[in-house]
Amino acid sequence: MAYDFDKIARDYDRMNHLMTAGLDRWWRLYGTRAACPRNLRKQDACVPTENKVLDVACGTGDMCLLLAKRGFAVTGVDLSEEMLAIARQKTALSNFQLSTFNFQLGDAEHLPFEDASFDAVTCAFGVRNFVHLEQGLGEMLRVLKPGGRMVILELATPDSALVRPLYNIYTRRIIPWLGQRLAGSREAYTYLPQSIERFPKGEAFLERLRNSGFKIHDCRHRRLTFGVCRLYVVCKNEEAAG
Ligand SMILES: C[S@@+](CC[C@H](N)C(=O)[O-])C[C@H]1O[C@@H](n2cnc3c(N)ncnc32)[C@H](O)[C@@H]1O
Repeated sequence: MAYDFDKIARDYDRMNHLMTAGLDRWWRLYGTRAACPRNLRKQDACVPTENKVLDVACGTGDMCLLLAKRGFAVTGVDLSEEMLAIARQKTALSNFQLSTFNFQLGDAEHLPFEDASFDAVTCAFGVRNFVHLEQGLGEMLRVLKPGGRMVILELATPDSALVRPLYNIYTRRIIPWLGQRLAGSREAYTYLPQSIERFPKGEAFLERLRNSGFKIHDCRHRRLTFGVCRLYVVCKNEEAAG
C-alpha cells in the first residue's frame, strides 16, 4: 500500500527544506531545466507557451511552480488530497494565471489522461513511493508524446565509502528524531531512509524504465550532491509504443 502523505502534508515543505539544508530546491531547479526544450532553457520569466507538462506525484507543488516559470502549462497529479490542497494554495498565491495549473487527485499507476497528451513528464521524489514501479513508469511514458522528455528526480544512497557512514547516521538517527520533534511523526521519517535504501538507483533504475513497456532513448542519469539525489532523463521514441 502507498504511504499516506495526508498525515505529514502540513509539515512536508518545512521538513524537506530542513532535512536537505535547502538542497531540495536546487535539485528541483536542476530537474526543471532538464525537462525544458532548448528554446525554453534560458527563460526565467513567466512567458506562457504551448508546452504541456505533467508533474506526477506533484505533492505541494514546488516543481509545478518552477515548471510554470519556464513557460509550461502544468498539470499536477497526486494521491494525497492534503498535499494537493497546499499546492493549490501556493499556486493561487503566486503571480501566475490560475489557468497555468491544473491539479488533479489521481494515481500514477492509472493516470487519468489520454495517450501522448504531454510534451514532458516530470516526477520529483515520487517514484520511490509507487507500489508497482514499472506500472507507474509505463503510465508516465504512455501519456508522454513521442519525442517528449521524461525527467525523474529521486533520492538515493551515496556510493562513496567516505560519505556513506555519515549519510547512514544522518538518515537513520537524525532524520527520524527531527521527524518526531518537528513533524510529530518518527514513523514517516523512518520510512524515508528505508524506502531510499530499497530503491534501485543509477543503471538499475534505468533498466526498470526500459522494462516499462515503451521504447526510450537518450537515457542519462546524473549524481547530484554525492549521489544523494539522482537525476534521470529519458526520451520516448518517435515511433509507436511497444
Ligand atoms: C516525497 S513526496 C514528493 C512531492 C513533490 N513531488 C516534491 O517534489 O516535493 C511524494 C509524493 O508522491 C505522492 N504519491 C505517492 N504514490 C503516488 C501514486 N501512486 N500516484 C500519485 N502520487 C503518489 C504522495 O502523495 C506524495 O505527495
